[in-house]
Amino acid sequence: MVSNNSSEYAPIPLERESSEGWSNEKNEVVVVKPEKIRILRAEISPWNFTAAAIILVLLSATANVLLAYQLSTVSRQQEPEATSEFAGLYRDLPIQIYPSTDYTGDNLTHVTELWEALSGDTGVVALSQDYIKEKRLPHALPFPWDQSKGVFLLQGYHDLHCLRTLFRYVMYTETGQAQHIALSHALHCLDQLRQGVVCNADDTPRYAGFQDPPGTGSGQVRMCRDWTKLESWAVENTACFKHKDEVPGPMVDRFKSCPDGRVLWPVDTHDSSH
Ligand SMILES: *[C@@H]1O[C@H](CO)[C@@H](O)[C@H](O)[C@H]1NC(C)=O
Repeated sequence: MVSNNSSEYAPIPLERESSEGWSNEKNEVVVVKPEKIRILRAEISPWNFTAAAIILVLLSATANVLLAYQLSTVSRQQEPEATSEFAGLYRDLPIQIYPSTDYTGDNLTHVTELWEALSGDTGVVALSQDYIKEKRLPHALPFPWDQSKGVFLLQGYHDLHCLRTLFRYVMYTETGQAQHIALSHALHCLDQLRQGVVCNADDTPRYAGFQDPPGTGSGQVRMCRDWTKLESWAVENTACFKHKDEVPGPMVDRFKSCPDGRVLWPVDTHDSSH
């Protein structure tokens, strides 16, 4: 009988040409080529034909099992990957790839509003020394209102800040205005985003063809982390940071904008008399 181990684990013969180096005639039998099957019918006895039919059924069953295994592998891949290390996010949010969004619209006034609204401020957080130690984070600027905390900027918010900087650079150039963004800052941002892309090594295969305008991946759904959950985590750990680019002033004044209006700093009641 052909029900050897190799046929249980390798359904590949079903898809291969018989000419592809098959020395094993038992495997030859299962190659699904109509003319071969006709020859088999003519040359082998009914008993052997029955055996061949059983083999085909067995192999078909094997193929089904392997197909089921393959599908389960796919669904296992689609399960959310491990939680992110800090905010505890899963890749559990399906979002389509859109070839264009409001950020690419024709109304430049509206487009500018959207890009200008991107800010890193919310992503400035104050983390406790215990947490910093547990996660082996580097020593950071002490939070001015609680020296037991260190100040950090979350990567995603740094990236948004960089995107806004690059948008400004593009718009100053595009509209012929005086350039306010130093080339070195623009290049820093481009390079930071480049490093992020390389670090993430995103392996999503974007399908090619069959889309208008031509491109890749249009409408394809991928599993994303939920930005609103990242934002919630950032707000929970807020460093009350707000700063307008290129506006000078003492660093400590940038940590006085708590989302819930809390006042963490000592209020000098004589301030108004100066
Ligand atoms: C363009 O966007 C601005 C800001 O959102 C809006 O006030 C204005 O009406 C828009 N213009 C047109 C032509 O839609």
